[in-house]
Parts: sequence; C-alpha cells; structure tokens
Amino acid sequence: CGIVAFLGADDAVPYLVGGLKRLEYRGYDSAGVALMTGVGAAASFEIVKRVGKVANLEAAMPAPNGAPRPTLGIAHTRWATHGPPNDENAHPHVSRNGRIAVVHNGVIENFAALRESLLSKGYALVSQTDTELFAHLLEDVQTKEKLPLDAAVRLALTQVQGAFGIAVLSLDEPEVLIAARRGSPLMMGIRDAQTPGGQAAYFIASDASAVVEHTRHVIYFQDSEMVVIRPGGYEIMTLDNVQLTRSVEQLELSLAQIQKGAYKHFMLKEILEQPEALRNTMRGRIRLGGASPPEIRFGGLEPLMERLASARRLVFCACGTSWHAALVGEYLIEQLAGVNVEVEYASEFRYRNPILARTDGCEDIVVVISQSGETADTLAAAQFARKKGILAIGICNVVGSSIARETDAGIYLHAGPEIGVASTKAFTAQITCLAMLALKLGRYRGAISEEQFEEHVTALLSLPAKMAEIFAQSDKIYEMSRVYRYAHNFLYLGRGYNFPVALEGALKLKEISYIHAEGYAAAEMKHGPIALIDRFMPVVVIAPTSDATYEKLRSNIQEVLARGGSVIAITESDNDDLDAECEYVIKIPKVADFLSPILAVVPLQLLSYHIADMRGCNVDQPRNLAKSVTVE
Ligand code: G6P
Repeated sequence: CGIVAFLGADDAVPYLVGGLKRLEYRGYDSAGVALMTGVGAAASFEIVKRVGKVANLEAAMPAPNGAPRPTLGIAHTRWATHGPPNDENAHPHVSRNGRIAVVHNGVIENFAALRESLLSKGYALVSQTDTELFAHLLEDVQTKEKLPLDAAVRLALTQVQGAFGIAVLSLDEPEVLIAARRGSPLMMGIRDAQTPGGQAAYFIASDASAVVEHTRHVIYFQDSEMVVIRPGGYEIMTLDNVQLTRSVEQLELSLAQIQKGAYKHFMLKEILEQPEALRNTMRGRIRLGGASPPEIRFGGLEPLMERLASARRLVFCACGTSWHAALVGEYLIEQLAGVNVEVEYASEFRYRNPILARTDGCEDIVVVISQSGETADTLAAAQFARKKGILAIGICNVVGSSIARETDAGIYLHAGPEIGVASTKAFTAQITCLAMLALKLGRYRGAISEEQFEEHVTALLSLPAKMAEIFAQSDKIYEMSRVYRYAHNFLYLGRGYNFPVALEGALKLKEISYIHAEGYAAAEMKHGPIALIDRFMPVVVIAPTSDATYEKLRSNIQEVLARGGSVIAITESDNDDLDAECEYVIKIPKVADFLSPILAVVPLQLLSYHIADMRGCNVDQPRNLAKSVTVE
C-alpha cells in the first residue's frame, strides 16, 4: 500500500493524486483521499474513494468550484489485506463521529480482539478493514481521555499489535497532520518557502518517489516514531513521547529515473536498462590493471571480511525474485569461495526457530536480500537475527530503506529505481553483487588464484556489453512470444547456476501474463512434470554449453521432444547443436558458467514481457500483486 499526505499553502489535490500515482506500484486495488475543507469549527472532510486504479479516483475528484482549495489532506492506494477491494474498504477510514480520518499501511494483528471490544462499545463497522478499527479506537481513546490528537494517537497505538504506517487528520485540530510508523516505511518531504515555483509544504509518503518532484529534502522515520506537523513547523517524537531531533537528508533520486519516458512500460525500460544497471552495480568497486593486484571492494563490508570468510554458514533470506537471486548466490559462493551457504524464504526462517551459531570464528551470518529493502518478512528475518546476536548483512537496492537501516552492514545494488512490479534489473544486479562477493571471498580465502580472479573479474566487466548483444535478438523473441502467447502452461528447466533462472523465468511469466508456469531443476522433470508434457506444453530449457551438465541437458531436451513437447532453448551463440531439434533457439554470448544466469534470464524476461503485453495484461501492475509487500 502507499500513503501520501500533504500540508501546505496551495491546493493539496494535485500533490496527493500525483503522489498516489507514483506510489501505485505498491498496491492498486483501490485509492482514496480525505481533504480538510473549511476552517476552525466549520472544518469538514471531503472524502473520495474509488475501487481500482488511481486514475478512477482522479476521474471522480470534484472539479474546483471557486471555493478555497483544501491545503491539507491524506491519501492512500491499497493492496488489500482485510476485506476485498471495493469503495467501502478503500482508505481513508473515518471514525464513528466522523471527526477522525485515517490512512494505514500494514496489518493490525489483534484485529479480532479490537473489533470485539469496539463492537461491545456500540461501534458499527462499515468496512471489513483493520484500519477502520483504528479510526474508531482513536475516537474512543480521545473521547474517554479528553486528549489532544497527538497524545490520543500515541495512546491508541499502544493498543495496536502488528505493523503500521499511518497518517491521521482530525476536525478538532484542522491544521494538524500526524503520521507514525512501526514496521511500515514512512518519510517526510520538506519544501521550504524559497523553493522556486513552490510554497512551504510538508509531504508524508511511503517512499521518496511521491515527493521527488516537489522537494529533495527528506527525513526517513525510524520504527516507533511519530511526526506532528502544523503550518509553522513539525515535531518528531518517539511513540513514548520522547522528543527527537532528526537531520534533513538530501534525496539522491531523480525524477527521470522514476518516469517511463518513451517506453511503453516500466518493465521494458528496466529490462533494457540492465547493462547500465550492472555497470552502476560494479562502478567504483572493481580495480583491475595498474601496478596493484586486482581487487573488489565493498565499502560497508571491508571491516567484516574476516568474519564473512571464516563464517560457518551464510544464511541468505529473501522473498520472490530476490530469493531466486539468493539461490544463484548459494551456487556462486559455495563454488567460488568454498563458504557454506543456506538459502531460506525469509518468511520460513523467521518463524521456525533456526539453529544459529554465534561462536567466534565459527559463526552463522544472515544475509538478507531485497530490492525494496521493505519486504516485511525479509526485514523481520534481519531483525530476528540481530535479536539473537547474529550479524545481519543487507543487500538491497533502495537507498535509505528499512533493511538498509536495520542491518549491521550492507551492499547497495545501485541499479536505480525499479517501478515495474515484476523485478528484472534488480535480479541481475543482485546476482552481479553476489558474484562480486563470491569472488572477493574466494580470493580472500585463497580459493581462487590471482590469475583466476583477474580472469573472472574481466568476465564480470564484460557483462554489460554482452547483455546488450542479446537485445539484438528482440525480434526473434517477439516472434516467439506471438507463437506461444495462447499457451496455458509452460515448463522451465535449468541445471546448476541456471536452475534458479528456470524458477525466475517461470515466476516472470506467471506474474505478468497469468499463464501457469513451473520452474524445475532439469533432472527432476522425470520425477513428475514429464507427465504434463504434450504438444501444447512449451518447455524452455536453459542450456549453455558452459554448464558442466550440458550433455545431460541435451538428454532432457530429447525426453521432452520424444513426448511431443515444443522446446525453446537458450544457449551460447557458437553452439549450433540445438538448432535442428528445438522449435526456437535464443543465443546468448559466451560467458563463464557462473555468470551465465545474468545473461540467460534476459530472453526469459523479454518472453514474459511480450506475451503479457500481447495478452493485454497490465504488465507493470499485474493483478493482485504489489511491488513492495510490507505485510507478512
Ligand atoms: C514482491 C514483488 C516481487 C519481489 C518480492 C520481494 O512479491 O512483486 O517482484 O521479488 O516482493 O521483494 P524485495 O523488494 O524484497 O526484493
């Protein structure tokens, strides 16, 4: 979900609706705004909510009628947790007396108990959301305790279990905007009176993309913090009411980075940006040539190299596409550095009481991997580890994200903002980072010689140009997508480094085209999926000759062909073996086996993209999904 709020001197509506559009990738089931209209005792809320995209809300916004425009408001774009997407369940939610309006991200876990308690006090519920409960709870606390809004919010939040990012308005204090967070990201943009073309204003948002057009001055709130904003200024405090002084940071994000430009979709833009993204991931971190030996450096990890290199285990925790990158990371680090790696779904790790060693020189280190740096389960995995005294390292893309702040050290991907819900450039940047880490650890531990290291680093640096060569086959991939666009099922097969790529190829297809797809380790096909193969089942086989099991992959291809299946193979440009047997062969440049996933996934991304687009699917905002899953 995404929150935007505005308090300023000019019309709040364009800021709120414009901000929601930027945050729409976080959730897009329904959207709404609450505007403070009128002043003093005459203040009232104007609330507009619509199911579906922000465009529906925008179309429903009443046109200005000459009355003074509202300068304070809160807004929300939703990814449904409690209650289906409809107008009633859309945020903002209003308390029983109509005097408090709330937008909320996250999940209130003691939902059932709160509902019982409020129903017994005579509150009637109009929606099925947990957020409406919070609005009533706030009214209840405020009426009973006769508290000002900020104190009432703090007190009400003590009764809330679970994660929240909230923004609150009250007709009793019609010039005040309150926001608070625990577990869900929230930041504030500050525009001062000197900003060209703008008057002084405060913005609250789930992430910086909603404010970057208006200001570059931001404050990221930490967990259990709250801000009270009035026209003349703001106060930040903890939820225990300890006043805080926080410095204003300068935003690095640029507007162009979050705009689609001439591309039809963000996903296509991000696929094509990958060579540049990889260059940025490697920039300043690799030294090659000159008098000194070749080297890879990660600023934040340098002091921890000894601990990483001697760790008993690195435990990678992630979700979705990042989990697939982690699987490639396991192959990379075990193979190149000889360090034991285990990969876990963050959601499983955090709840299964894993055995973690803390002994010096034989410790387990948790590495969380996340594009957004906000995925609730991944963040919780890092917090869980730290609570147990385990070192937690973050690999994430979004600068200043919760994971970046709540881990002991980390690596930024520097892939640039990823807006399309289906992750593409973050995946290849994650693998690039993990390959660099594997090489660095391998060298540190003496598992690879200086010559090998130099050779591998040279290969790494050649990746962006090689990746660009794949785009030259776009027409062929487009043509292939046309042929297969009506398929009901797809199977993706790979081995070794490319087994996770098979999983990722299948995930890409199902996420955005809604075609059922499964990824398998190729040798596992005979243990089940082979039963599904007939002439209607396209099978994508990632079969680079660099793979030690290439001949076995060829046998797997024969097994599919023998059952009438149609094979799309991904192999290197100098390999003609498969041309005659397979329906389509997409050629990728030759590269060392450990780097092949970074290239092999690109045609799979393009295949899903074109199929989804041809099927008329919403490529950037597939149904039911959200980019940043800040609920468990
Ligand atoms: C969501 C997104 C996926 C992403 C996953 C993990 O499900 O739709 O594209 O891979 O979250 O996100 P993270 O930001 O932690 O990498």
